[in-house]
This record gives sequence, C-alpha cells and structure tokens, in this order.
Amino acid sequence: MPLPANNRRQSWRLDDIDFDAVDAASVRNDEFLFLTLASASFVEILSEMYSDNLIEHFQGNAEVTNWLKEHWQQEEVQHGHAFKAYIQRVWPEFDWESAYRAFQVQYSSLCTVEQLEPHRALELVARCVVETGTSTFYRALEDYVREPVLRQLIGHIKTDEAAHYTHFRRYFAAYNAIEHHGVGAVIATIWRRLREIRGEDAYIAFKHVYAARHPDQPFLASDWHRYNRMVKRLARRHYPYLMAVRMLIKPIPMAETLKRVLQWPLVGLARLVSLG
Ligand SMILES: [Fe+2]
Ligand SMILES: [Fe+2]
Repeated sequence: MPLPANNRRQSWRLDDIDFDAVDAASVRNDEFLFLTLASASFVEILSEMYSDNLIEHFQGNAEVTNWLKEHWQQEEVQHGHAFKAYIQRVWPEFDWESAYRAFQVQYSSLCTVEQLEPHRALELVARCVVETGTSTFYRALEDYVREPVLRQLIGHIKTDEAAHYTHFRRYFAAYNAIEHHGVGAVIATIWRRLREIRGEDAYIAFKHVYAARHPDQPFLASDWHRYNRMVKRLARRHYPYLMAVRMLIKPIPMAETLKRVLQWPLVGLARLVSLG
C-alpha cells in the first residue's frame, strides 16, 4: 500500500482566520462552549510535549518521524493556538496563560514514554483511536456551533484530524505487514486506548479551566459531572456515532463484509456506553 505523501503543505494557517470578524456577542454567554474550547486549547497545545515521545518511538523511520515533526505536531499545536486566540477574542477576561501553566505542571508528571504501545504497529492503531476521537469530536462541535468564524475554524481542524487518522492508518498497514498482529491484539489495543480517551486529559484540562474561571470557589467533582451531563445531552444530537465506529474498526484485520455486519450493533453499543 502506498504511503501518503509527506510533502503536503499545511492546509491552513492562523493568519487565514479573520478573528476581527468574530460575532462575540452571539457566543459569549455560552459557558459550555467556553469550557469546551478552553479545555481543547490546553490539550491540543500539549501535543508539543508528548509528541516527542512518539517521534522517539519511530526513530529510524525518517518518513514517519518527518511527517510527525513537520505536519502532525505543528498542526496539533496550531489547533491549540487557534482556540486560544478565539477565547482571547470572546472571553478576554480569562487568564489563559496562568490557567495553562497550572495545567501543564500537573499534566507533565503523567507524560511518560512508557504509556506508548511497545509494538510500533499497535501504537499506530492507538493513534488511530485518538484521531478518531478528535475527528468525531470536532465534527460534533462544528454541528453544534453557529458562529461563522468558529465554524470555519473547527472545519479546518476537523479536516486536519481526519488527515492525521489517514496517515496513522496507512502507517499501521505498512508496519502490520511486517509485525502481523491479529484481530485480538488490534481490538485489545483499540479498547485500551478508548478507555484512556475517556480518562485523564480532558478532566485535568477542565479542572484548570474551571478553577481559573471561578477563582473564588473551590473546584468540585460536581462541576465536572454537571459538564459531562451537558456533553451527553449534546452528544445525543450531534455526535457522529457511525463515523466513529467505522473509523475505529477500519484497522482491524478482518473481512470488510463482517465489519459492515458489525457496525450497526456497535453503533448501538457505543450510544449505550457513552450516553448511559
Ligand atoms: Fe488537534
Ligand atoms: Fe490530530
């Protein structure tokens, strides 16, 4: 299978976004949107820190490491900076820098190279899971958002995430032609990484965003639970479950006909697990 071309230019730049045209009044009172964008900006900018582990993991394969350094890493960080710029335009009273520093201190203790899958092919499957998460999350967010500049921005980011997925999936195919992991190992990796996605990153980011937003009150677990109830309520209407399932099962070395049979029960299961 041919690998994707590495010479693709970055598809958009921060300068392409007309932040002066933001209709701030129409989004300023949407606290859910603020918390979501601020948390996303933290997690995206952090890529700068954890991506070094990943690049190290693929040392010796210049094609993969070049793409990671010159495209993936820079695009992820740009996503974070774009959200930061948007937040500073709409919610200028939020002290983004201090909140991010507090977040970074707590997060950095968790970021270790040991969290990567020891086999390269399986780490690439895990990356597909992460990019499925971001692609579908931004698709849902774009569907939710009405403000035109933010919609345009999220549209760009969503396209980048889908391209990341495609790269990782093709790199996986190339590595698995050598490593030969079977259905069980690939599913186990997908499952492992799915459980992590639901875990710590988003929670720690949210906690620091919320604490900075409400400096006069202690952060409570109930604040996080209330936000999650809102996420679930909106997911019912906006989250692309079928897209998520198709992307997740695509790397599994199993007949395409079987995948097509399985995809609808899996969509039902995904709705049940995520909304329950
Ligand atoms: Fe991203
Ligand atoms: Fe990505």
